[in-house]
Amino acid sequence: MSLEESAKVTIPGLKQMKQDGRKITMLTAYDYPTAVLLDKAGIDILLVGDSLGMVVLGYENTLPVTMDEMLHHTKAVKRGCKRGLIVGDMPFLSFNVDSTQTIENAGRFIKEGGAEAVKLEGATEPVLRTIRCLVEAGIAVMGHIGLTPQLVHQMGGFKVQGREKESAELLIEGAGKLEDAGAFALVLEGIPADLARIITQKLSIPTIGIGAGPHCDGQVLVTHDLLGLSGAPKPKFVKQYASLHPLILSALSSFRQEVLEGKFPTDEYSYH
Ligand code: KIV
Repeated sequence: MSLEESAKVTIPGLKQMKQDGRKITMLTAYDYPTAVLLDKAGIDILLVGDSLGMVVLGYENTLPVTMDEMLHHTKAVKRGCKRGLIVGDMPFLSFNVDSTQTIENAGRFIKEGGAEAVKLEGATEPVLRTIRCLVEAGIAVMGHIGLTPQLVHQMGGFKVQGREKESAELLIEGAGKLEDAGAFALVLEGIPADLARIITQKLSIPTIGIGAGPHCDGQVLVTHDLLGLSGAPKPKFVKQYASLHPLILSALSSFRQEVLEGKFPTDEYSYH
């Protein structure tokens, strides 16, 4: 049995993985071909992250991303994914503004996009209220604390969080509150490894780390980063498993050169 044919990933299954000490894998997907590849590779969770804005749409940060953009890409991912659990990332101001609108937006990820859960950033009282409300409405929620990119301006940039005792304690407290509010898993982004270990040990729901060290129950990366697609300098926490940027550039340049020189198409690529 191939990895993609193995059992469909479910939320209870993810909780079981934590209990059994089996690591969870999550990667971002924004389109059909990537979803097919991630599913073939046996990745457990496909996150349609709002990193879409920076990675695919060329925005400076994730703030401009809209619900319509997220849904467009979630639907494409859904068409390519059979086994992995699809999580749709709620973009900035799509939640926490008005509770009816929040449920409507989260519901669109499930009903229109085909996602099985949504993710939202933060652990403030309004976010906790939102999570309780969504869970009561039957929508599964993944939390996200630490470096939360939607607060880029308040954080003064993309900076590691929880380095000081006070902020570390706030993150530990926030993680507990997110579990109590009904989140089924938690992304820990950009925090010291020891802090992620403490949070992971305290919670019964799985933690999934990005730039949060090895002690989390699972790991997530932005797929374009691990494939080395952008050619831009990479953050410390990213391991590049491939370097596709120069490879693709070389293929594109070769095509251009061969067309200019009349070397493509040859007879082999022509109909008669
Ligand atoms: O939007 C995203 O890709 C994310 C991951 C980095 C966790 O939130």
